[in-house]
Amino acid sequence: MTTYRVGFLGIGPRGLSQARAYALHPRVELAAICDVDAERLAAAAGEFGVERTYADFRAMLDAEDLDVVNIPTRTDLHAPLTIGVLEHRAPKAVVVEKPMATSLSDADRMVELAAAARTRLAVHHQMRTTPTFQVAERLIDQGAIGPLTSIKIRGKGYYGGYDMLNIGTHLLNGARRFAGQARSVTAMCLTGGRPTTAADVIEGPYGFGLLAGEDISAVYEFDGGLHAFAEMHRRSQSDSGWVHLKLYGEDGALCLYNSRQLFIRRGRDSCVGRVPWETYELDDADRILHGCDYVDHAGGDLWMAEETVRALDDDREHECSGLEGRAVMEMMDGAWVSHFSRARVDFPLPRGDHPLRRELAAAGLPDPDPERSKLRYADWLPGELARIQTA
Ligand SMILES: NC(=O)c1ccc[n+]([C@@H]2O[C@H](COP(=O)([O-])OP(=O)(O)OC[C@H]3O[C@@H](n4cnc5c(N)ncnc54)[C@H](O)[C@@H]3O)[C@@H](O)[C@H]2O)c1
Repeated sequence: MTTYRVGFLGIGPRGLSQARAYALHPRVELAAICDVDAERLAAAAGEFGVERTYADFRAMLDAEDLDVVNIPTRTDLHAPLTIGVLEHRAPKAVVVEKPMATSLSDADRMVELAAAARTRLAVHHQMRTTPTFQVAERLIDQGAIGPLTSIKIRGKGYYGGYDMLNIGTHLLNGARRFAGQARSVTAMCLTGGRPTTAADVIEGPYGFGLLAGEDISAVYEFDGGLHAFAEMHRRSQSDSGWVHLKLYGEDGALCLYNSRQLFIRRGRDSCVGRVPWETYELDDADRILHGCDYVDHAGGDLWMAEETVRALDDDREHECSGLEGRAVMEMMDGAWVSHFSRARVDFPLPRGDHPLRRELAAAGLPDPDPERSKLRYADWLPGELARIQTA
């Protein structure tokens, strides 16, 4: 059986988490690490016993015969680094963190370059590879909740635009697993309780790029006729406990609660409260992978690593492919296009500038302060709340 040589481009908190998962995988060799931060590089090299470290990713690609390159950096670096890797020396697979880019045009370029290089591009939407998703799909196929009727997703209670880009990207990608290709979206954004305007287009935290809307409500219509209702609303406190993806059927429902647990309602909910939610206990065979129990590794990175290995073994697209990642970006941009045009918007979206940059230009407003993009969310939010109060 092939052992795949993996290199890391960036070894911050997300890189460490992914590398720890690869370290548990018997088919992976953690071959090399690259980071411009010498301290992080040395600490990670020590933790994983990796001797070959680099400050320059091109030097890493030249010296190492890597099968997989993981890119867990801040969001605005996803596209330039993925493009840099694909143009310099393309490996068999590139696994980039989510959201895959800060503009649809960059996502297009990443997908095109990967296809030209015959590289499998994947976006780290690991939730979709987890046991709870696999079991939910099996239960649906077995008819446990009857034919699907609708999907509901809810974010973490962050500022809506950021919630959509950060958490919604996982949930929309998850919804696609069950509903397929989205056909259209109708959405509404509120900021400070009033309809979001071009003056509310802001620079998001930590390189997430342009965003708008403190509360975003969106209805997606899918090819198969299903609808998904998305709630990305800022709460008084953000919390993982808010996150869910609910799948409703004619004869029951499933709730992937924060992707870690699975709940089921066995029966038609024709009378509120008559059919309670029960925990659906996963079997050992579903939970345990390479001796690791999902209960103890619920972040899901090991299952994402497994899917990367299997996709390479089978020479097929990754479950969380770049194509899926790009479709999710289109769904998120579509929510803004719909809000600002006050209309239902069909997919695919016409290409061009970022839809929020177009709104700024149409209103004669300059680009928002780029300095804000240096702040992490917790430091970014107070300034935005103060801006809303004085607007
Ligand atoms: N999939 C998930 O569940 C999940 C969870 C949390 C965060 N994320 C994503 O992770 C990303 C942020 O990750 P983080 O907090 O670890 O970021 P970070 O900025 O703390 O770490 C990134 C590392 O990359 C390094 N780096 C940047 N440019 C480089 C270059 N040119 N060459 C080599 N190294 C370089 C930095 O020095 C840093 O050490 C975001 O995109 C976020 O959306 C995903």
